[in-house]
Amino acid sequence: MKSRISEKFRTLFGKDGEFFASAGRINLIGEHTDYNGGYVFPGAIDKGMMSEIMLNGTDKVCAYALDLDEYVEFGLREEDAPSQSWARYIFGVCREIIKKGGKVGGFNTVFAGDVPLGAGMSSSAALESTFAFALNELFNLGIGKFDLARIGQATEHNYCGVKCGIMDQFASIFGKKGSLIRLDCKTLEYKYYPFDPEGYRLVLLDSVVKHELASSAYNRRRESCERAVAAIRKNHPEVEFLRDAGKEWLDEVKTDISEEDYKRAEYVIEEVQRVIDVCDALEKGDYETVGRKMYETHDGMSRLYEVSCEELDFLNDIARKCGVTGSRVMGGGFGGCTINLVKEELYDRFIAEARAAFKERFGHEPKVYDVVISDGARKLE
Ligand code: GLA
Repeated sequence: MKSRISEKFRTLFGKDGEFFASAGRINLIGEHTDYNGGYVFPGAIDKGMMSEIMLNGTDKVCAYALDLDEYVEFGLREEDAPSQSWARYIFGVCREIIKKGGKVGGFNTVFAGDVPLGAGMSSSAALESTFAFALNELFNLGIGKFDLARIGQATEHNYCGVKCGIMDQFASIFGKKGSLIRLDCKTLEYKYYPFDPEGYRLVLLDSVVKHELASSAYNRRRESCERAVAAIRKNHPEVEFLRDAGKEWLDEVKTDISEEDYKRAEYVIEEVQRVIDVCDALEKGDYETVGRKMYETHDGMSRLYEVSCEELDFLNDIARKCGVTGSRVMGGGFGGCTINLVKEELYDRFIAEARAAFKERFGHEPKVYDVVISDGARKLE
């Protein structure tokens, strides 16, 4: 990828720039908990975005997306927003830095990536983090790592229409080879957990479906949670996020909120606890419990949070039938992947069966990605 980028960069700009990269992410457990102040448990992966960048001394960004063969130029004022969605991520990052008082000028860039789009591995966070990290270095801005992640998150909120939490950008910036990271999204305390489950493999099965309107459905889930918090706060003003409430407090307001909001909040409260349970189990090397919790998450995401879909439920069922240790829909949902914790000796049979059964039902095979936990945002030498 590096040499393809480099070649194009020279052709377009006649010089060499500097290389930066960042990563997509997986999440072992803790889904839709981040914007509820709960825990998440992600890690960066070996698929990401890479860009070559050179400052150009103007106030214009000249950007070429190698995978799409598209070139766009844009200025850095609010009214200069480009229309191409990929360019809006880069523009948004620049704008968010500027809003924080950072001095960003123009630059030339060519970038490419290998995070499958729409698969729930957060290609967009990888793109935002690459540029946030790179611009921080190149313009000597001195922005701390959490703020870099927040810049990516604000880009999603203000330029891409997704009111996401901090998980994806956090993983993409803080990711470390071989480790998952448990993040408390309320206090922002985090802890690295070396993850090398002997005798097991983590594998993603990508349904290759992405259902429309995922971002508005995502934002609606968030609103449900906020309504539930508002109701609980009437009795317990100290509650800031769903994470601060137990099931009993939610039950006190059961008749004050809609059935749908209740289900959403119920899922979140249970999911926050599951992350804690999984961390405890991991410390004991108890992968059976980890796997069981993953299945519980799938059920919650499917029945209560309603972010699964036919294809993902189907993949989850195959995993259960094959005796896979843990399996669940990963990321925001509405398509994308399941993440599976599989015993080595079962791996081949499971993959073969999943491919065949899925193809028979939906007409195409799922894609299979072995998870390699890798470093996050960095400068390449
Ligand atoms: C998307 C969002 C994250 C998080 C997950 C669900 O990936 O970007 O902030 O909410 O969905 O866990």
